[in-house]
Amino acid sequence: MRGGFITLEGTEGVGKSTCLEIVEELISVEGYRVLATREPGGTPLGEKIREWILEGQHSSLLAETEALLMFAARSHHLDDVIRPALSQGYWVICDRFTDATFAYQGGGRQVNLEWLKTLKTSVQRGLEPDLTLLLDAPIKVGLERISNRDLDHFEREDLMFFERVRETYLDLAHNDSTRIKVIDAAQPMAKVRAQISKELKRFLRNFRASE
Ligand code: TMP
Repeated sequence: MRGGFITLEGTEGVGKSTCLEIVEELISVEGYRVLATREPGGTPLGEKIREWILEGQHSSLLAETEALLMFAARSHHLDDVIRPALSQGYWVICDRFTDATFAYQGGGRQVNLEWLKTLKTSVQRGLEPDLTLLLDAPIKVGLERISNRDLDHFEREDLMFFERVRETYLDLAHNDSTRIKVIDAAQPMAKVRAQISKELKRFLRNFRASE
């Protein structure tokens, strides 16, 4: 039996890592085996691409090249980790996936969305996350939370960039409200947890019914 594929998305400082732990715990409690992974990353090659993009000083990197690197890492991640895990019955919980490419490269850097859709189709070959939790909070709230971190390649972008990223995420959620559930991440963590738990319970009911 194929496992479920859940992704988490959101702009910087929305508490994605804590929410990933919550999802992992709630799915494990249901008796499923869980594989938690992330993008860019999740394989040795993907982690190298991640490190190169996030830590590098490469202001001249073209937005289109950045998008291709994300899809290259994703293609390898899908073939080496995600597809095999799903077919062995693992539930895969992935910290970011293709919605992030639409939001950051498409929305933030204004890369052509039709081109990104073509890349998505060829890399995913019909595989979509079963559920995506979009952690949403006003950009200023998130940036305030990360203000004392060493900033990476994306975190150094300006407010307008992140406003476009957030808007694109919300558009994606609006256009695919069955898959993408928006979680209000500006609330205290106990309330965020309760909302995630509610969405997961509803999702699991439907997932099991369709098995
Ligand atoms: P994170 O640890 O906050 O998730 O860092 C990953 C960064 O990479 C984040 O700023 C979003 C960015 N990113 C993209 O720009 N495009 C993508 O396709 C993915 C997966 C991540």
